[in-house]
Amino acid sequence: MEPVSPKGKEDGGTVFAPACPQRYLILMTKPSPPNMNDITDIAQRKADHIEVVLGEDVGFGRVTNGFEAIRFVHNALPELALADVDVSTSFVGRGLKAPLLISSMTGGPGRAEAINIHLSEAAEALGIALGVGSQRIALEAQGAGGLTPDLRRRAPSIPLIGNLGAAQILGDHGVTTTKRAIEMIEADALFIHLNPLQESVQPGGDTDWRGVLKALEAVVTAGLPIIVKEVGFGLSADVIRRLTDVGVTLFDVAGAGGTNWARVEGARDADGPTARIASAFTEWGIPTAQAVMDARSVAPGATIIASGGIKDGVDAAKALRLGADLVGQAAGTLGAATTSTDAVVSHFQEMIDTLKITCFCTGSADLAALKSAPLLDNR
Ligand SMILES: Cc1cc2nc3c(=O)[nH]c(=O)nc-3n(C[C@H](O)[C@H](O)[C@H](O)COP(=O)(O)O)c2cc1C
Repeated sequence: MEPVSPKGKEDGGTVFAPACPQRYLILMTKPSPPNMNDITDIAQRKADHIEVVLGEDVGFGRVTNGFEAIRFVHNALPELALADVDVSTSFVGRGLKAPLLISSMTGGPGRAEAINIHLSEAAEALGIALGVGSQRIALEAQGAGGLTPDLRRRAPSIPLIGNLGAAQILGDHGVTTTKRAIEMIEADALFIHLNPLQESVQPGGDTDWRGVLKALEAVVTAGLPIIVKEVGFGLSADVIRRLTDVGVTLFDVAGAGGTNWARVEGARDADGPTARIASAFTEWGIPTAQAVMDARSVAPGATIIASGGIKDGVDAAKALRLGADLVGQAAGTLGAATTSTDAVVSHFQEMIDTLKITCFCTGSADLAALKSAPLLDNR
């Protein structure tokens, strides 16, 4: 897919996109002024998410990412040099030094900007992809949280992916909003996250999901590059099929086994009803390994990202072996993301080194070879 040109220009109520592959003119009504109380509430919630994910156990119970059941056949005679293992690939029209994505994460006031600086500089240094967290607040508050074209200046060569929730593209302004989010950070594509469970558990969440598929179809039909993702409960085979039918070709399955977003919302309520409802969903969701295999079987030609509980480069290699094109990690990156650019670089360099060693010890010179590396028969 070709990157969307970021050079659109807003002029009053009209948005011009002179260099987009699909040239178009969108007439839009002036957005209504943001409700500052809503923005403050959302910003506080995002700040709480960071504290909760860093400080509490908000994973699943017995449910795992499923990769422990997948085992490579060890190759004691690789006939390769580890230094020659090549894990480069491409994504949304840009080259990558490794098939990795820093998955979308938001932060609250004060923290989001630093997190986004650390992540963008590290992604550029490593040559891996970066997804930013939800741009909902930034769209209403003019680029809050460091979500401005400055982010692209820090990461000029890597795939940079924006992010909005499904609720933000419902209604008449879905295409315009998607385009504004892409232009805001000069993104190559936009993640649209489907998180009905998180929204249902969260007090005041968006719980009317009628029309989401149609809204996604409208965005795809307008020629805008979107990637549909979950947030840790997985996209099922049926959901992938329905999305494929309306033209979506890029997916992040974001399966179960890592961060459980019902429990994150529950943790904000201590022992209240939200916490009790959330705890009923401790074992919910499609494990990431299963979600990747299902997605690949129903959408053989799609670009598939595996995320959700990815721990290390061996998990990443298994996800690639099962059919993923790219592998993402969110919560496992957060500690480094709140620390420094160097901390993020070290964290992902370890994952890249581990992935390369896995390739080496399966006799795989590159990612194409890894995709057919033999697996142990566990029967
Ligand atoms: C602190 C934090 C904030 C997140 N914010 C977003 C977001 O704004 N949009 C989104 O699509 N996903 C968001 N996610 C979900 C991740 O992108 C990912 O899908 C999910 O956490 C599962 O991956 P993991 O198990 O590696 O954490 C967030 C995750 C974390 C840890």
